[in-house]
Amino acid sequence: MQPVIPEIELMLRDLAATSALAAAIAPHVRPGFVVYLSGDLGTGKTAFTRALLRALGHDGRVRSPTFTLAEPYNLSNFELYHFDFYRFGSSDEWRDLGFDELIGGDVAAVVEWPELAGQGLPAPDLWIRLRTPDAGAGAAPAPADPGAADPGAADPGAADPGAADPGAADPGAANPGAAEREAGGGGAGVPESSREPSGQRVARLSAPTEWGRLCLTGILDATHAGLLGGVSLREDSAPPPWL
Ligand SMILES: Nc1ncnc2c1ncn2[C@@H]1O[C@H](COP(=O)(O)OP(=O)(O)OP(=O)(O)O)[C@@H](O)[C@H]1O
Ligand SMILES: [Mg+2]
Repeated sequence: MQPVIPEIELMLRDLAATSALAAAIAPHVRPGFVVYLSGDLGTGKTAFTRALLRALGHDGRVRSPTFTLAEPYNLSNFELYHFDFYRFGSSDEWRDLGFDELIGGDVAAVVEWPELAGQGLPAPDLWIRLRTPDAGAGAAPAPADPGAADPGAADPGAADPGAADPGAADPGAANPGAAEREAGGGGAGVPESSREPSGQRVARLSAPTEWGRLCLTGILDATHAGLLGGVSLREDSAPPPWL
């Protein structure tokens, strides 16, 4: 029997809720902890990372790594690297750039657009898929097998709401946000005017590893206790099968 990857789906009412979620995850982040962030342009991957870094004590600027591809942060006890693979032209690029020596190594890593890396990207401890409530309503369920935690191992799009956009797997083609990113450079992605007006997001969190699972359980408890302002369990989401 295939092991079930623990998963929950949360409603994030606004940016503050995304930040509250990030703050709840922060205590679980440690050297070697890997977070994948999936979702269309402008769904809040960088905003989440910014809040995570703040919660980890970083009080300087957090730039989107859209153009630099990786931004390192020296936190008090460990380093965290924030990656953005959006601009990769080939799935080997992360290796060519030596990122394989970082991700899953002694640093913590947050990876935006992990789908654009090929096979071999280390499985995350936590995989967060963000979407606006109206997008990806028919989003596929989470990967049924742990191998699918490797975004290159299975059809990466199958578990990713972003895959509803054929351009999502190909940053260069048919991706309406690409030009905005080229022009904007700040990683803001979709212009404010065309974003979900309410700022609501749906976050699906899955935890392929024990570290991730502990993190997920903590988030679930905090959500049930009403400790995370603006964060609620999505009503029609399946009950966590691992509890
Ligand atoms: N609930 C929310 N969570 C996160 N961001 C939100 C939320 N509501 C509104 N926003 C806004 O949406 C924008 C998200 O932009 P952000 O750069 O974080 O997206 P992204 O997913 O990293 O995009 P990209 O793929 O282009 O890097 C920000 O301007 C943020 O203020
Ligand atoms: Mg971003």
